[in-house]
Amino acid sequence: MNTNNINKVGLDITAANQVIAKLGELLANYQIFYTNLRGLHWNIKGDKFYDLHGIYEEYYNEIAEKIDEVAERIVILGGTPENNFSEYLKIAEVKEISHVFDWKTGINHVVETLQFFTGKLRELHAAGIKSGDHGTVSLANHGIKSFEKKIWMLGAYSQE
Ligand SMILES: [Fe+2]
Repeated sequence: MNTNNINKVGLDITAANQVIAKLGELLANYQIFYTNLRGLHWNIKGDKFYDLHGIYEEYYNEIAEKIDEVAERIVILGGTPENNFSEYLKIAEVKEISHVFDWKTGINHVVETLQFFTGKLRELHAAGIKSGDHGTVSLANHGIKSFEKKIWMLGAYSQE
């Protein structure tokens, strides 16, 4: 059996590389979003403080776990994850935010970013299906489900 084109977990290397590239983009975007959430957690002011200070902490902790999961998936598939912010900033589409005090501006950023991530995860899901990579498909499914729920909850919360 020719194993030249197969990686250690039994997937075609060329197909896996396409998934790895998508995971790398996701990692960079998660890292920027993580720091944005930390800033929102620190700077929120006003009558929503106690709600949103806690919610942002819950969210950045979840994103921290996802960052690790995505980076380790890259290694599992035979790639090397970036760990430098200078590299993340070159490929991330999520923009850095700073000094956001207003709750509505913060929530809007979070909802828009979660919508962006559900789109990225659907693309990742498609790439995973194409390469027979069930582990990545599962990672994408969990992310989509979690973010869709947050989009719903934040939408309901911020309705005036
Ligand atoms: Fe804190």
